[in-house]
Parts: sequence; C-alpha cells; structure tokens
Amino acid sequence: MTAAVTTTPDLASRFVNGILSIKPLANLAKHQARQMMIKRAEKIGVFWTKEVEQLRSRDWATDLAQVQNSQLTYPDYYVTSFHAYETGNLSWQAAFEVESAAHAVHAKIWQDTEAQGDEKLRQSYHNIVESSISQPPKDILDLGCSVGMSTFALQTVYPQAKITGLDLSPYFLAVANYRSQQRQAKINWVHGAAESTGLPDQSFDLVSIFLMCHELPQSATRNILAEARRVLRPGGHLAIMDMNPKSEIYKKMPTYILTLLKSTEPYLDEYFSLDIEQALVAAGFQTPNITSNSPRHRTVIAQVSG
Ligand SMILES: C[S@@+](CC[C@H](N)C(=O)[O-])C[C@H]1O[C@@H](n2cnc3c(N)ncnc32)[C@H](O)[C@@H]1O
Repeated sequence: MTAAVTTTPDLASRFVNGILSIKPLANLAKHQARQMMIKRAEKIGVFWTKEVEQLRSRDWATDLAQVQNSQLTYPDYYVTSFHAYETGNLSWQAAFEVESAAHAVHAKIWQDTEAQGDEKLRQSYHNIVESSISQPPKDILDLGCSVGMSTFALQTVYPQAKITGLDLSPYFLAVANYRSQQRQAKINWVHGAAESTGLPDQSFDLVSIFLMCHELPQSATRNILAEARRVLRPGGHLAIMDMNPKSEIYKKMPTYILTLLKSTEPYLDEYFSLDIEQALVAAGFQTPNITSNSPRHRTVIAQVSG
C-alpha cells in the first residue's frame, strides 16, 4: 500500500495558498520562481536562454504537420495548467523549455552531479530495466514521450528495437520529431492518448512510462495500465519511473513547499495516494517489483500475468 503524503495546511501553507489565489500575486510569484530557476540552470551549464532562443527561431509548421492528429480529443484532466504554464503541455513555450527544465530540476537529485543529474536519473532507471528483462525487447512503446528524451534513452540501450513514442502534446512531438531528424534516429511518433493508443493488441515487448504518472488522476492511470496490458505481448513488461511517494524527502518536505509543488502539479495528491501494486494487479499484471532508483524516485517493473 502506498502511503499518501499528508499535508495539513500550516500557517506558511495557508499564506502560500492565499498568494496563489490572487492572480496578479500568483503570476508575480511564478515569474520570480521561473527567473530563479533559469539563473540557477545557467550557472551549472544548462544554457536555457540560448537553447530556447534557437528552438523559437525555427519554422515549426512542417514538424507540427508531420506529427499532429487534428481529430484528437484531449481528456479534460489534460487541458489545464501544469508546471506554471497557463495552457499546460499544449504550448510552444513548454515544448521549447522542457529539455532545459528537466536538466535544471534533475540537477538537484544528487549533490555531486549538477547538469548530469538528468542523465544519471535515466541511467539508474535503465540499469533496473535491463537487469529485470532477460530478452532485449524488439518493440518498445514510450508512453508520455514528450520531446523524446526518454525515447532516445531507450534507443541508446536497445539500438536494435523498433521504438514508438506517444504523447498528447503535438508541440512536444514536433520538437521530438526535429530532434530525431538531428540524431538520424528512426522513431514512430504518435500523437494520441496513452489510455487509447489505437495501437494493435500484443504488439510490444516493453512499455515504458517515464515521469508521466504524477501528471495523471488515478482513473487515467488505471486506464493507461489497462491499455499497456492490451498492447503488451505475453511475457511482456511494463516499466514505470516516477516520484517515490515513500521517499523521506517528500515525507519531510515542509508543507508550504509541497503546497507550491502542488500548485504546478494538479494531480500530485492522487498520485501519492494511488496503490500502484493493486492497480497493476487489477490491470492484469503480476505483482510488481519496486526499487528506489534515486533519493526521490522509484522504478516499478511489472510483467504481464498469465
Ligand atoms: C513530465 S513529461 C514526461 C517526459 C518524458 N517521458 C521524459 O522522460 O522526459 C509527461 C508527459 O506525459 C504527457 N502526457 C500526460 N498525460 C498523457 C496521456 N494521457 N497520454 C499521453 N501523454 C500524456 C505530457 O504531454 C508530457 O509530455
């Protein structure tokens, strides 16, 4: 059973909530937090401003047209503010900043890694995945692939595999498409919902979900687990890497910081209180192995049952 992180609102949290409820103050706070994050990133060698400028200066019409499914209907829970972007993941700004943001945020996981923190986090996940799966997977699906960072990491570990990256944001996928052209990497990008991929039954050996579940309400996670089960072959594996609700870091986090975090991650309470073992077994997987792969992340590996 996964214990929920309790957040009884103390005075500091009520103060934070008060500020967040007044739009101009909330915008000012977000602006300051953003500037601080960019400044800190640049200090450790993540060239946020330059990277974003470069991406912004491109003409994205062709990339967008190549990946976008204009018939797609977005789930309600997705069309909301995330990570302090008013339109959440559905914006060019979020798409241009997500790589720099990942490097900046993950720089702080380990004390000694700085800008290499993101790479170390992905490596720690793949070490567990590789040692859990005896046969190299031939077909891999990366759900919530964003701009492709997790997809390219999978391709580095399994260069012979056919890889599909799926995401709901056409802007993220347009950047992913551009990045795969730069790397001359062959990836099948799919603009779709992880709960209804439209991909054939039993067509993958490995489904990987890297840092997506904390962005989902529990009902969506359950639907996505069932969809992963449907597209996996007999004996196939589902691997999930995300925040670890049992990490001491979250348990000891001052509630006002958790309040701030939750203002940018709308489904964090639902994520923290989901019983992932039970949800996986209910979706048709064997009881999973859960391993901590960083001071605040965990890797969950579940094999198709039966
Ligand atoms: C934090 S990002 C994960 C990024 C990526 N896997 C990585 O390692 O950098 C979460 C991603 O999940 C996507 N997402 C959220 N809900 C989704 C859903 N129901 N179906 C498909 N993608 C979804 C978001 O658009 C976003 O790109």
